[in-house]
Amino acid sequence: MPGNSFGKLFTITTFGESHGPAVGVVVDGVPAGLRLSQEDLEFELSFRKPGRLYVSGRREKDIPEILSGVYNGRTTGSPIAIVVRNTDVISSFYEEVRVKPRPGHADLPFIMRYGYENWDYRGGGRSSARETVGRVAAGAIAKKLLMFHDTWIAGRLKSLGPLDSPPADFLGILCSKYSPVRASDPDTEAKFQELVKQATVEGDSYGGVAEIVARNPPAGLGEPVFDKIKADLAKAILSIPAVTGFEYGLGFQASRMKGSEANDSIVRKGEKLGWRENKAGGILGGITTGEDIVVRCSFKPTSSIRKPQGTVDLRTGEPAEISVLGRHDPAVAIRGVSVAESMVAITLVDHSLRSGVIPPVKLEERQAEVIEDRWRRYMEECRPTAESQ
Ligand SMILES: Cc1cc2nc3c(=O)[nH]c(=O)nc-3n(C[C@H](O)[C@H](O)[C@H](O)COP(=O)(O)O)c2cc1C
Repeated sequence: MPGNSFGKLFTITTFGESHGPAVGVVVDGVPAGLRLSQEDLEFELSFRKPGRLYVSGRREKDIPEILSGVYNGRTTGSPIAIVVRNTDVISSFYEEVRVKPRPGHADLPFIMRYGYENWDYRGGGRSSARETVGRVAAGAIAKKLLMFHDTWIAGRLKSLGPLDSPPADFLGILCSKYSPVRASDPDTEAKFQELVKQATVEGDSYGGVAEIVARNPPAGLGEPVFDKIKADLAKAILSIPAVTGFEYGLGFQASRMKGSEANDSIVRKGEKLGWRENKAGGILGGITTGEDIVVRCSFKPTSSIRKPQGTVDLRTGEPAEISVLGRHDPAVAIRGVSVAESMVAITLVDHSLRSGVIPPVKLEERQAEVIEDRWRRYMEECRPTAESQ
């Protein structure tokens, strides 16, 4: 299978370029009977949308058109094609990039792999994170389908540059979607905002760490040995542009601990067995334990910065400088949170179908209604009221 598709039973294929007519996704393997509307997709896309404070100024409406696989508001079991038109494209910013590849970007590697004559340099072409619109649209379907098991996915920006945030409960993490910098508490939000403003003034950027939690996941997901859930989550997350690292549970911290510190006691939790502190982040032996899944990923600082950087002029082969113009995220990690949430959801729903937790062909009427109720509650959770704004 070529590199633009992901998943085995719930498969996504994304398409489109930054400055082409549209981006989108084809999602296959969705059981029939799931209620699905444009509003569901728009809701998730709104948290990835550019054109807001502290993120890229590109003013995209990001309206998803469902072209297939849905009839009378229900999925039919056929492939669901979703298209999002690109409406705010300014390619003139990229004339210089055509001859001076940008540091930190895929420009030169794309030229090396596909040939200069085949390279769509406009806005980064296919390597642009505009592609992740398709992932978030597919993520909306995956998140909704996971509600079959009452599994909810949420994410926050745990750290930005040198600033970290205190631990947060699930609701705090879920509500961070309404923070313009994806912070999970007001103090951290103010600090993150200051840092982003500073970066914008300096013509520079910051990286950050996103933390994603899947609450109440099914136990038993993951196929040892190569399709362990940790391996598939790592692939899903590391395929996101600008992601440089992946960890779950104790992650890299575990390497500095003793076994007695890293182990987690097995305890009785009512009728079930569980783990006292969930240090393993919901995964042992590559199989979900039923405890919440906790993954983190690091995003590098945005490569496109105004500060001049060294490159080579492809016309002359001589050293050159480039100061990258255009509309860019001062910290890609902010919008990266919703992309990471989506990739976690897509991976978990694929494995839920593979292990038989979610029926692969058709949802019963009652099951679809329960999902719809949970989804409505999810969409209303944390929504700012007129007084709180
Ligand atoms: C949601 C999102 C938005 C992004 N926006 C920008 C941006 O505005 N400017 C930029 O230089 N990189 C941005 N990136 C990252 C680049 O697409 C990425 O660094 C580049 O394609 C090189 O790929 P690599 O970092 O994975 O090696 C963004 C990434 C994500 C996930």
